[in-house]
Amino acid sequence: MGLLLPLVLCALAACCGAVSLPQQYPNPSPLLSRGCNNSDVLAVAGFALQDINNDRKDGYVLSLNRVNNVREHRQDGLGSLFYLTLDVLETDCHVLSRKAWKDCRVRSLHQSVYGQCKAMFYINKPGRVLYLPAFNCTLRPVSRRKIHRMCPDCPSPTDLSDPRVLEAATESLAKFNNEGTSKQYSLVKITRASSQWVFGPAYFVEYLVKESPCTKSQDSSCSYQSSESVPVGLCKGSLVQAREKLVSVTCDFFKSQAPAPGGENSAVNQEHASLPKVEDSQKKDTTHTDSPTKAVPRGSVQYLPDLDDEKPEDSQEKGPREAFPVQLDLTTNPQGETLDVSFLFLGPTEEKLVVLPFPKEEQHSAECPGPAQEAIPLVLPP
Ligand SMILES: *[C@@H]1O[C@H](CO)[C@@H](O)[C@H](O)[C@H]1NC(C)=O
Ligand SMILES: *[C@@H]1O[C@H](CO)[C@@H](O)[C@H](O)[C@H]1NC(C)=O
Repeated sequence: MGLLLPLVLCALAACCGAVSLPQQYPNPSPLLSRGCNNSDVLAVAGFALQDINNDRKDGYVLSLNRVNNVREHRQDGLGSLFYLTLDVLETDCHVLSRKAWKDCRVRSLHQSVYGQCKAMFYINKPGRVLYLPAFNCTLRPVSRRKIHRMCPDCPSPTDLSDPRVLEAATESLAKFNNEGTSKQYSLVKITRASSQWVFGPAYFVEYLVKESPCTKSQDSSCSYQSSESVPVGLCKGSLVQAREKLVSVTCDFFKSQAPAPGGENSAVNQEHASLPKVEDSQKKDTTHTDSPTKAVPRGSVQYLPDLDDEKPEDSQEKGPREAFPVQLDLTTNPQGETLDVSFLFLGPTEEKLVVLPFPKEEQHSAECPGPAQEAIPLVLPP
């Protein structure tokens, strides 16, 4: 089988006589097309997105809206490296909650944040290895102008530095501290804010909290500043300035802090049930990050403003593709480079993957993009 192609090429060269093949005659791409609605591909995309969320320290859990494009590179008896382009939506779970994206709710349309991630994901079923060498994502909030046209009264995003946003956070947290047990919480940072007119200005905020060393009885006399600022939960609060001040608050505490109820982990475990060694391989990975050959940059999430805020001349120059620019190239060499993944395997063997430049958007696999969970053009990258 492997000999067939060279034979055909020889025959071609022979028949065409003097016309020799150009030196840089491109090899047929080793990247296979896969369907974006294929169940294996969806599983791989789900694992990849889970790892992307796990790698992040900031922002909200991303959920899969659809697989935009996929290529598979079979690695000579060593499993496959997938090149994934995923259209994603922000949920209302903070990444520090460590919740699985499937357990989180995407934001309602007027609060949507959407975008695209590119990821390389390595899977080796016999070796029970799942590994995310690299990812990058770009997100934008949904078009304020278009939302306003559909829903003029919906809350709109508000600058986090607005003093009334801080007021809403402090007032709602004070209410939470007041109503709770003696344990007190203090503000780490505001992560989201919106406002609306309801009988008066209304502010809605989300913020991270940490445990405060002060107890309720110490009250305002406590000025002890703790150096620990590990966020332990996410609170959602509101402040409405109507005839009287209306304050509401709910807080969600992250798993490691909360007493773990039995069923909580089940979704995560089920998801990885067919590949029980995943967690192990990832632990191995983190313990090896100081070794230079294995230290691969994982990735980051870039937040860009509302597309409407871009200068018109900019958006005209930019094609639709550049509206969500995501760069992901571990190599620019068209022949590829090797990536040492020996640390993912037990034993002293040396295992290397071939990594190629990320495939271009124009090379869409057949049956891609796949069907979207939220098929509204407003929240799909163009
Ligand atoms: C990810 O994006 C950043 C810029 O946002 C870029 O500097 C970095 O090189 C990208 N990572 C890869 C592996 O291409
Ligand atoms: C995607 O796959 C599911 C299940 O295999 C099927 O029910 C659905 O019709 C498919 N959707 C498209 C758009 O092909």
